[in-house]
Amino acid sequence: MQKLTLDDIDVRGKRVLIRVDFNVPLNTSEDGSPCVADDTRIRAALPTLRHVLDHGGKAILISHLGRPGGQPDPDLSLACVADHLGTLIDERVRFSSNTVGDTVGDVIDGMGDGSIILLENTRFDPGEKSNEEGFAKALASLADVYVNDAFGAAHRAHASTAGVARFVETAAMGRLMEKEIEALTRVRDHPEHPMVAILGGSKVSDKLGTIRALSTTADHLLIGGAMSYTFLQVLGHEVGASRIEADRLETAESLYEEAEDTLLLPSDHVVADAPDAEADASVVEGDIPEGKMGLDIGPATIETYRTAILDAATIVWNGPMGVFELEQFAQGTMAIAEATAEATDDGAFSVVGGGDSVSALGQSGCTDRISHVSTGGGALLTFLEGAPLPGIDALTDA
Ligand code: 3PG
Repeated sequence: MQKLTLDDIDVRGKRVLIRVDFNVPLNTSEDGSPCVADDTRIRAALPTLRHVLDHGGKAILISHLGRPGGQPDPDLSLACVADHLGTLIDERVRFSSNTVGDTVGDVIDGMGDGSIILLENTRFDPGEKSNEEGFAKALASLADVYVNDAFGAAHRAHASTAGVARFVETAAMGRLMEKEIEALTRVRDHPEHPMVAILGGSKVSDKLGTIRALSTTADHLLIGGAMSYTFLQVLGHEVGASRIEADRLETAESLYEEAEDTLLLPSDHVVADAPDAEADASVVEGDIPEGKMGLDIGPATIETYRTAILDAATIVWNGPMGVFELEQFAQGTMAIAEATAEATDDGAFSVVGGGDSVSALGQSGCTDRISHVSTGGGALLTFLEGAPLPGIDALTDA
């Protein structure tokens, strides 16, 4: 079902409540104050914010940050994000330490058209995660129009992502939401073949539905990261001290049986005693010796995966191949990034998503060569799986 977009609504003179996903990693600056460590998600929201401001709307931004458990946590305040946004958008960005209530309403009433405010972390209120009606209504009372641009949080049925939409007349998608849906629909619903999906990361359990769905559309499903050891163990390989999900062996086995024709697993591994910068790394083929952990895919696997990727017309990648943060275990992930970029240069359509993959992509220097870098992690997997996304479903039908 098509949803309203910014093109369908007139924001001039209106209070536009915009749900963004400013759930970004924070760091500590030299003076000890918190600062934004990676502003990819903030930059991604700028087209929507610019549209609202340039068309004379009041932009009232709401977001979650981290998982504060329904109560205020000063370490998870969005105050530093407001400052950071101000430098990116070159406007004064007000900040409200309250998320809802009369004082917030008064501040908003006092703002001129074309101005912008960020409200405090929605998850400081217990009503956010429980999608409580009172909190959703309190958010809605701040808005004439609601816009959801938080693709990264669209898989959550929370008050600020879904509940609020029931209490406003108009609920539309923002530009980022539109862009994400367009790119991901192309990959999920009408991919050009050959299609290659690359899935890594630690847990099979996080990606069950996605593996199942992609195994029916992709020509090759390349598996890396710790989750490959769970599959390898099921197939009777020795995996040494590698991380596996012991309680998911049966699930992995039935998934393997279903997806066997498309699923490719690593044939060699970079192993060490521990995921440690000082550890001695070596390459083993087949079984992993006792006491050793698989921490990256090996050179033969890189070659096999690279060949499949270079041959692809559509590529989707989520999850690293190994502990790429440490140099001696980064080669597999970097090779996937490079091959995906090369294939894209040659005309393939590529999508990369998930916090770790996007940061690995940055490390490889290939980000600008990818067709679409998604801001979603869990939302991307949910979308690819074909499961409902409450943050999109709640919006007004076009
Ligand atoms: C994310 O980072 O995937 C989104 O912001 C959602 O965050 P959550 O997993 O804490 O709901």
